[in-house]
Amino acid sequence: MADAGGGVAAAHRAVRIHGVVRPPGDKSISHRVLMLAALAKGKSEFSGLLTGDDVKSSARVLRQLGVKVSTIRDSVVQVSGSRLLAPRSRLNCGNSGTTARLILGMLAGQTFGATLTGDASLRRRPMRRVTEPLKAMGADIKERGDGLPLTIRGGKLRGLNYNSPVASAQVKSAILLAGLTAKVPVTIREPYRSRDHTERLFAHLGLAIHERDGAISYQPSAISIPAFQLSVPGDPSSAAFMVGAAVLADGGELTIENVGVNPTRTGFLVVLERMGAHVERVNLRDEGGEPVADLVVRPGGGLTGTEVAVAEIPTLVDEVPILAVLASRARGKTVFREVGELRVKESNRLELIAANLRGLGVRAEALGNDLHVEGTEKPPRGRVDTASDHRLAMAFAVLGTAAGANVKLSEKKSVAISYPGFFADLKRIRADVPT
Ligand code: S3P
Repeated sequence: MADAGGGVAAAHRAVRIHGVVRPPGDKSISHRVLMLAALAKGKSEFSGLLTGDDVKSSARVLRQLGVKVSTIRDSVVQVSGSRLLAPRSRLNCGNSGTTARLILGMLAGQTFGATLTGDASLRRRPMRRVTEPLKAMGADIKERGDGLPLTIRGGKLRGLNYNSPVASAQVKSAILLAGLTAKVPVTIREPYRSRDHTERLFAHLGLAIHERDGAISYQPSAISIPAFQLSVPGDPSSAAFMVGAAVLADGGELTIENVGVNPTRTGFLVVLERMGAHVERVNLRDEGGEPVADLVVRPGGGLTGTEVAVAEIPTLVDEVPILAVLASRARGKTVFREVGELRVKESNRLELIAANLRGLGVRAEALGNDLHVEGTEKPPRGRVDTASDHRLAMAFAVLGTAAGANVKLSEKKSVAISYPGFFADLKRIRADVPT
């Protein structure tokens, strides 16, 4: 059992936050630039790419498809685009839903077959949301039940006009990538707008993508994708844990540099501000078609519970764990409406957030698809089952930094999926001071 927050139970001490931290590269953008560079003509080069395990899964799968991808380490990553080749073995997508679903879109228009699989968590996650529209385009997909492993044998695809039943950027992106590789027009509507990184990258590369009345359309053209360079912004979903640690502190100031502030990703900032937190955005700039800023967080004043509406969920879907632990320190109740999608993330996050909060002395429950959290001043104490889910580990580690907390995590290494330096950063930005 590991101590959250680097080991110190902070009883009878106040927590001060200080310094500057840079979150790792955006996970969603990192996957997408690797995949688009694989389809481009020539050598692309990226800095700031996430070095986490999920992005390594995308790189590994692309290499199996004949693409040259340099080692994913801290520095610059190069990708030499080429025609995709039939893989010699199964494509193992590891823990990464984005890898599996987006690669399926890329493979739908190829002439060879490939079998995709993943780790135990990924094999439990639904794939029909992607295979159904791809089959409607004409892809030949053999699946047993709703998940991996499955075999896709592409084919000559036809265009698609699709109303997605879920607000999912992975579904939308798989269809856009199928349209791109098969050179057919596609239009997608979703119940609520999901993250739009694929659309922004398409536009950045000069591809014909348009949005009209909420419908996203891609129109194929004769131009090939040019090789490109990009500096990947820091991941707002990773920055959210540092923001959370700062909000829970008793004093000080934290700067989080180089954070993507695409409005389809920053719902957690909107909700935190509504709850009474102070997060300033400074030094606003553009990086490859994505807005980027530095965030300055000053603790103080405490938080008040709120209601998070269904339309807000796609803009903060990965931040529900951290928002829920912060809600457990707020005055009054917080309700997250219609978060059933959390049941099919890397773990059943909806049930595990509630159960783990209860285990720490907080009143929390999943009622239907809503998550209810009752704030308390009592310090959280007890053990947390992370189910090897990176975002649960990080959210509860942050809760473990509250004054007087003593939170033990079942494991810590899952953070390597999206934020390899998480515990080092969390330790560096905090100081326990006698009250
Ligand atoms: C992602 C989309 C979201 C998100 C995931 C990354 C993406 O999933 O939860 O971490 O990069 O497109 P859904 O599309 O299933 O909502």
